[in-house]
Amino acid sequence: MKNNPDHSGRLWIRLCLQISGLLVISLLSACSPQPPKTQFRAASPEEATWIRRLCEPIAGELAASLLARMTAEIAALGPEAGIEVCKNNAISLTHAIAAKHGANSVITIKRTSHKIRNPFNNPDAAESEALKIFLAPSPPKDYVQAIENGGRVEVRYYKPVLTGAACLICHGPETQIPSGISAKIRELYPDDQAKGFREGEFRGVIRVSAIMPQVP
Ligand code: HEC
Repeated sequence: MKNNPDHSGRLWIRLCLQISGLLVISLLSACSPQPPKTQFRAASPEEATWIRRLCEPIAGELAASLLARMTAEIAALGPEAGIEVCKNNAISLTHAIAAKHGANSVITIKRTSHKIRNPFNNPDAAESEALKIFLAPSPPKDYVQAIENGGRVEVRYYKPVLTGAACLICHGPETQIPSGISAKIRELYPDDQAKGFREGEFRGVIRVSAIMPQVP
């Protein structure tokens, strides 16, 4: 079959336009200032040993203290007081525990989940990956991760948090949440996703992170 010159000419023009488009895009990305690239990966064995030793006790103590404080407040003041524990005391407890373990300000602690109540606890990309690992069948007992950011390595220790029976009055199926609590939660967290959990179900993680000391 004879080649149609008109048709192949148009093909060339289209090809050139596509190539110049690619060039413009790559020139643009070369010129515009890029934020430092953050990359995350599973921690190396050395990083994992270091962070587990430092952060596993902190994560364990935070989980136990939150539960103890909540149970005590609910027993003394009623279930709605528990909301205040989860809301106001989590942060101060976190700081007190980090200080008690001799940790300096480099340690950070966060609670996050695939279904959050407070949008402030929203997971970042690395946390979302950790959450996926715990949501998969046969999840590990913890997960350690390294975030590289311009030569600085932040190592993260993740401890899974399960939904205990005591959690259901605030995180369980709607029918198990007393109406006073339901109303208070709706008022404070209009975009709440942290309901409908069953006992024993994965609820989220406690993440304790530290900056890996530089090897001279
Ligand atoms: C009395 C109500 C109440 C009980 C009981 C309760 N929580 Fe919460 N929980 C809340 C509130 C309120 C928040 C939002 C806290 C905030 O503003 O950061 C929350 C937040 C969380 C978060 C942080 C992520 C998010 O969704 O924002 C986790 C994880 C969590 N709860 C786990 C638990 C677990 C596990 C239990 C049981 C041991 C429990 N909670 C019991 C009310 C409760």
